[in-house]
Amino acid sequence: MSVGPPLDPTERLLRACRGEPVDRPPVWLMRQAGRYLPEYRRVREGVSFLEMCRDVDRAVEVSLQPIELVGSEAVILFSDIFVPIPGMGVEVDFQPGPVVAEPVRSAAQVEALRVPDPRETVPYVFEILATLRRELEGPRVPLLGFAGAPFTLAAYLVEGGGSKSFSTLKRMMVRAPEVLRALLARLTELTVAYLNAQIEAGAQAVQLFDTWAGLLSPQDYADWVLPTHREIAAKLDRARAPFILYVGNGAHVLDFMIEVAPEVVSLDWRVDLADAARRIGSHASVQGNLDPCALHAPREAIFAKVRALAEAARPARGHVLNLGHGCHPDTPVEGVRAFTDAARSLAEDAS
Ligand code: CP3
Repeated sequence: MSVGPPLDPTERLLRACRGEPVDRPPVWLMRQAGRYLPEYRRVREGVSFLEMCRDVDRAVEVSLQPIELVGSEAVILFSDIFVPIPGMGVEVDFQPGPVVAEPVRSAAQVEALRVPDPRETVPYVFEILATLRRELEGPRVPLLGFAGAPFTLAAYLVEGGGSKSFSTLKRMMVRAPEVLRALLARLTELTVAYLNAQIEAGAQAVQLFDTWAGLLSPQDYADWVLPTHREIAAKLDRARAPFILYVGNGAHVLDFMIEVAPEVVSLDWRVDLADAARRIGSHASVQGNLDPCALHAPREAIFAKVRALAEAARPARGHVLNLGHGCHPDTPVEGVRAFTDAARSLAEDAS
């Protein structure tokens, strides 16, 4: 694995994503900018979450916080998967999860959805990315963009918010499949345009979050989710930015994730990483997959878990160290710091 002098974080991440040799795995965390950081809460004071997403200065500031505060080696755009949705003509609020005033359930509502050019409806997202790229020139830390996947966005749009069973959505799959297909088609088109515009604005890798796709049986996943991932994978400008595919609760659909052939398969903690890495092999790199709650463990225990994850990931062509889902608001800052320090200690082990 050795490649001579230490790599800068941008090179290390991009190489790991593409399965090229690196000195050790790069590290970042999903939801690394958030309420577990007192510094984030200070910037967030007095503004709503959506205002914060639109405020370029504040969004840039909190995007950058995890580099210094917890030693993260990538910056992810501060935003939310729902930011481009109001531009389709749907009102969304955060309480704190997304709430849709009028759930989208009829053919007429789907027909009425616009597929806007995100550069026109959410220009601030691209301004945040461009500003971040300039800020990151010095530290040479990579910049990540992201989007919600069509199925996960549809799940919230149909239910009207989060749900335990997503039974309204599943009812639509059997009672009005053509309405759901039309909704997914529009969301897929938006997602492709949104991610490509982020790449254009400076994102060096992009992650697609399909948090709820793992709710489906393998057959339903193949019917409803796989085609959306394939289309996105085919239409992204992947020569310029590797594609990271995250599916929540997706142990049973791993082979479908591999079939899409993203640069990186991002796994949650319910998946056995050693087994997954063997199955992924040379097809993709792997990202993950510590349970965010494990960050409550003592520093030494976190180091041991990180060493075990790095070892388990070896059969895959590359490894990006990350959590299996986002940091929770009660995540201890010192646990996050221990996690990134542990990644850096892997280089010493290797030499
Ligand atoms: O990872 C990052 O640091 C980048 C920012 C980011 C946020 N949301 C910020 C956020 C990203 C990548 C997301 C993605 C997102 N948002 C997903 C997919 C990934 C996942 O976590 O499963 C989903 C399903 C959402 C929808 C969403 N947004 C929920 C369910 C919630 C409420 C839960 C919570 O953590 O509060 C949000 C709000 C949200 N998104 C916050 C942040 C920092 C909290 C807002 C606040 O400050 O009150």
